[in-house]
Amino acid sequence: MDNRGNFSGRIGFILAAAGSAVGLGNIWRFPYLAGENGGAIFLLVYLCCIFLLCYPVMVGEIAIGRAANRDAFGSYSKLGGKNWGYLGLFGILAGIMILSFYNVVAGWAFGYFLHISFGDLLNHENFGNFFGEYVNDIIDVSSINGLANSNLIFSLVFMALTAIIVSLGIQKGIEASTKIMMPALYLILIGIIIYSLTLPNAIEGVKFYLIPDLGELKIQTVVDGLKQAFFSLSLGMGALITYGSYLSKKENITSSAAVISMADTSVAFFAGLMVFPLVHFLAYKLEINAQEIGTSGPPLIFVVLPQIFHEMGPLLGRFIGGSFFLLVCFAALTSTISLLEVPVAYLVDQKKMNRKYVVWMVALLIFICGLPSMVSMGMIPALNKLTFYRGQDFLTFIADMSDITLTIGGCLMTIFISRRWGIHNMDAELALGNETYMQSGVRRFLHITIRWVAPILLGFLSIVIILEKFFGIANLI
Ligand code: PHE
Repeated sequence: MDNRGNFSGRIGFILAAAGSAVGLGNIWRFPYLAGENGGAIFLLVYLCCIFLLCYPVMVGEIAIGRAANRDAFGSYSKLGGKNWGYLGLFGILAGIMILSFYNVVAGWAFGYFLHISFGDLLNHENFGNFFGEYVNDIIDVSSINGLANSNLIFSLVFMALTAIIVSLGIQKGIEASTKIMMPALYLILIGIIIYSLTLPNAIEGVKFYLIPDLGELKIQTVVDGLKQAFFSLSLGMGALITYGSYLSKKENITSSAAVISMADTSVAFFAGLMVFPLVHFLAYKLEINAQEIGTSGPPLIFVVLPQIFHEMGPLLGRFIGGSFFLLVCFAALTSTISLLEVPVAYLVDQKKMNRKYVVWMVALLIFICGLPSMVSMGMIPALNKLTFYRGQDFLTFIADMSDITLTIGGCLMTIFISRRWGIHNMDAELALGNETYMQSGVRRFLHITIRWVAPILLGFLSIVIILEKFFGIANLI
């Protein structure tokens, strides 16, 4: 398996894996889930999930990938036999499912970036109506200020950008692009936070976000925290197995995983610190209570934020708003490349197919798989209100199904390590590049979490998530 490609070193790997982790999940989903679940208490639950469940799963995945030096399917089957290979395949399919809807949302963000920076999107009167029309009409090629207004085109371009990067390979494509996009993302994020903290009433947003109200802790908070943590760290579907397979034996996995988890968590945390002061600024401007601003669901960044940019005035709004959506695009792109790499690595490793050809073929196929999600926002009524799924739209359905597959995938992975591959084999892999590992507390912590805590809690919570999705949490308790 020589010539599969590899990362040039620790920094390249960490940036690429952190790039996979930092994505729409952090900037689009984390703030609104935090808003819906009582702000600070959600943050607390989220951090516990990262520490107790996600970090061990991340270490395990990277160790599996590096030990086997194969794609997700190949890694499980090499270390555990053909039947375990299906777990890798399950992850690859989950990745395809995620990329299919993820690219649609990324396409919206890309369109917003263009329309805010170069068009007249911020002149609209009602951003709710605009967003509704925008996602509904996918092939409207009429132009606003010379820009085609079709999110079919935007998401196609986004998928093409993803494919170009992945087709360039691990070092020249994935690593080189994340080395530019990740620092840029941090800079834009910090810049917007500093600006938003100077706005009137910003401090109220910070308080809401950071002071926990323990009365708010509900089962829903735990379920949302866990599924968000898994999705955000790109766990449970083989992305980190695949990236781990390109990592040199000289590198320290346990410390790299800690840096990746912290990088991802910090971006989610900062995204909240950017959004809540902005929302409270808007409440101040409109002279209403911040609770009256609907911060739940996708509209948060596509409806509420544009309204805030509009309030900032034409020039500043265009600049801050454009920068914000550029940030979202960078975050999404570093994730879509990791999602595409998973099935590509599988076909290149297992079927010995040509990388460039596979990349474009798979990208096109996944783009087509995303079309039902794209037209489910109103264009095709049957997909907009799924009868078997409590009247929700198809995009939400696919997004929810991926949450389920990720936690199940993570649970089975920990079972794989402790009951099949052997925790001593994981130890041996983790000791490479980390001389003190065998005597360390990290090792004891990983043993307890991977053997007991993670499989039990993840198994239990996967069942709760399935029941919640299909029957609603309120009916469960
Ligand atoms: N972690 C990415 C995000 O937060 C999404 C993702 C999930 C990417 C699974 C790869 C694999 O947006």
